[in-house]
Amino acid sequence: MTDTHVAAVCGSLRDESYTRVGLDRALEEAELLGASTDLIDLREFELPVFDADRGDAGDAAELKARIDRADAVLLGTPVYHGSYSGVLKNALDYTGFDEFDGTTVGLLAVAGGGFPVTSLDHLRSVCRALNAWVLPHQAAIPQARTKIEDGRITDEGLDSRVATLGRRAVEYANIEPDPRTFESRENVGADD
Ligand SMILES: Cc1cc2nc3c(=O)[nH]c(=O)nc-3n(C[C@H](O)[C@H](O)[C@H](O)COP(=O)(O)O)c2cc1C
Repeated sequence: MTDTHVAAVCGSLRDESYTRVGLDRALEEAELLGASTDLIDLREFELPVFDADRGDAGDAAELKARIDRADAVLLGTPVYHGSYSGVLKNALDYTGFDEFDGTTVGLLAVAGGGFPVTSLDHLRSVCRALNAWVLPHQAAIPQARTKIEDGRITDEGLDSRVATLGRRAVEYANIEPDPRTFESRENVGADD
């Protein structure tokens, strides 16, 4: 058993989202290691486009509290135009060092096509700017329509990578913090 808590933020609002399926799979694996989990489904949040003049709006406080509570956070995104989704970016813009500094983060990208890697790279850069501790292991599901059926990942190799992401999130949830990243010191946010 562990008292580790893992949250996952789904960057797709689609009802039949493959990204949500992937995150559910990773969280299922985290639970097998005894972690408590929280799928943060952004369909349930009112989050207007972030306006720095207004700061928190809508359900931002709840979003931040649920991310802050987690020892490790999984960020899942559909690949949109070779990057991660605006839905996820908007949610992340409400957060900052308070939620992510020193927090273990795992990344998942889900693509209609065959090249999900750039979105993972882009998310990794964002996480470094927030001084999160990003797992080296990352997972991607390309050609999602042919790899997911009835809410399950049918490709054994991909399923194993996603499951490993959930396990690593628990295993590295409480690592000793590293010195701050260069990016996090240079990319100062509105609250610095
Ligand atoms: C606006 C938009 C842009 C997209 N851009 C890409 C892309 O650049 N590369 C790709 O492989 N798939 C692209 N797709 C397809 C999605 O990645 C794919 O449908 C994915 O399964 C969506 O994830 P979801 O099921 O979690 O919503 C795009 C879809 C949308 C709606």
